Amino acid sequence: MADQITLMVVAFTAAVVLVHLIYRAWGNIQGRRERNKVDTNHGRLPPGSTGWPLVGETLSYYLSMTSNHPTKFIEERERRYKSDIFISHLYGEKMVVSADAHFNKFVLQNEGRLFRAKYPKAMNIMIGKYGLLTVHGDLHRKLHGIAVNLLRSERLKVDFMEEIQTLVHSTLDRWAEKKEIFLFKECHQMIINLMAKQLLDLSSSKETSEIRKLFIDFGNASVALPIKIPGSTYFNGIKSRELLIKKILETMEERRQHPEVAHHDLLARLMEEGTLSEEVICDFILFLLFAGQTSFRAMPFAIKFLSDCPKALQQMKEEHDAILKVKGGHHKLNWDDYTSMKFTQCVINETLRLSNLAAGFFREALEDTKVKGYVIPKGWVIFAFTTANHLDKKFDAPLKFDPWRWQQNQDSSYDPFYIPFGAGARLCPGYNLAKLELALFFHIFITRFRWETLANDKISYLPLPHLTKGLPIRLHPRE
Ligand code: HEM
Ligand SMILES: *[C@@H]1O[C@H](CO)[C@@H](O)[C@H](O)[C@H]1NC(C)=O
Ligand SMILES: *[C@@H]1O[C@H](CO)[C@@H](O)[C@H](O)[C@H]1NC(C)=O
Repeated sequence: MADQITLMVVAFTAAVVLVHLIYRAWGNIQGRRERNKVDTNHGRLPPGSTGWPLVGETLSYYLSMTSNHPTKFIEERERRYKSDIFISHLYGEKMVVSADAHFNKFVLQNEGRLFRAKYPKAMNIMIGKYGLLTVHGDLHRKLHGIAVNLLRSERLKVDFMEEIQTLVHSTLDRWAEKKEIFLFKECHQMIINLMAKQLLDLSSSKETSEIRKLFIDFGNASVALPIKIPGSTYFNGIKSRELLIKKILETMEERRQHPEVAHHDLLARLMEEGTLSEEVICDFILFLLFAGQTSFRAMPFAIKFLSDCPKALQQMKEEHDAILKVKGGHHKLNWDDYTSMKFTQCVINETLRLSNLAAGFFREALEDTKVKGYVIPKGWVIFAFTTANHLDKKFDAPLKFDPWRWQQNQDSSYDPFYIPFGAGARLCPGYNLAKLELALFFHIFITRFRWETLANDKISYLPLPHLTKGLPIRLHPRE
């Protein structure tokens, strides 16, 4: 019996080693082949390997991004190739991965000239033909302008300021009754409710909780390998997408039937505009609804970081208790109250640095691009991997939550290493809204509750950044 087990272990180990060797050899051949092919026409491709057919290097990328050492994938390759720009094969496609912060920012700033957005297949299909990230040229400028207008600062200072606070308070009333909650899920629902109201005039209801569930599949599918077989993540995501689009179409139909009912949401404005087709409106709203959720992920991340760092939590309490005192209780904050939250801004920056809500950016080279003695040929996709820049040695003890680093390092000293909202023509239009949501949430949550975390959560960046146990916490109302 013992012999059999030994034999099996030896056989298994041998098999693993063999598979590994074949994999490495395949990778080398692939890499060499790619390089030779391009050498003659354009110049030298960056070094690297495209790994296995179809899955490429997805497995080692996945293991790295779900571990406590997320930059391992990059560091291993930097060591092997002596280059932080290299070839790989991720999300089902071969691509050039760049961990060079200067190059990454350069790529973003040359949107529409030297490069343009081109996301991997699964993401593209989920976004649809007319979601902002898949649109280019004049239509992009027009739709981007509509998004910017929806989120312009006059609307933030009045409407959003008011609505976010009302929503957070009513949500926290419900949490107070439940006492124990999964913060990750609850924050997701809260932000969906905010976006659904703004975009489709939906109130919090069974319908918005259904929408949250559909977006879980949707999000997972957007970064999955595009394998369309029943039951696969990608397959389920496509089904969820169809249901979400159907909801938007039904809402439009109902409004045409009942023109007498007035709505003051984005859908109403897009329908009035008159030049946008039904398909454009659906994809555009769906993507805004999806992108607009991004900020919720930063909430449980921050609460986890603060729970693990009593000194920072104490300083947050002092900042927010002081505001509460000046206001004489839970009265609505105004824009000046918001801009007075200095330490909170540091906590927000540090949380966004560590949570890497966008792992990076995907851009297609529109021309042969020279970088560091290599040539990225026209048509290749570049994955500007900003996660590596956010966790670079440029930041002392990069994996540590240290909001004070933002006090010492004023202005642009972290430029171009810190770009959580992108740059250039596609700079996130939700940038200011996201920060406002976070600050108002922290203010209300911290002044209303004490809490204890009920599990030892870990960060994982895939499929999308999350806490592995969903941050269960017990809440105690504060006096
Ligand atoms: C902390 C929260 C957020 C983060 C970290 C974030 C991050 C980003 C990033 C990195 C991009 C650029 C993608 C690229 O260039 O390829 C982007 C684009 C975008 N974001 Fe955000 N975002 C957040 C919140 C929001 C919110 C609240 C909204 C809307 C309500 C929003 C709407 C959009 C839209 C529409 C785009 C596409 C812009 C375009 O292609 O023209 N985001 N976001
Ligand atoms: C989606 O990903 C999350 C992690 O963010 C995971 O917990 C969940 O099981 C996945 N859901 C589905 C339906 O695949
Ligand atoms: C936070 O980061 C932004 C860059 O996104 C920077 O402009 C701002 O000064 C930073 N805030 C603090 C408090 O350091």
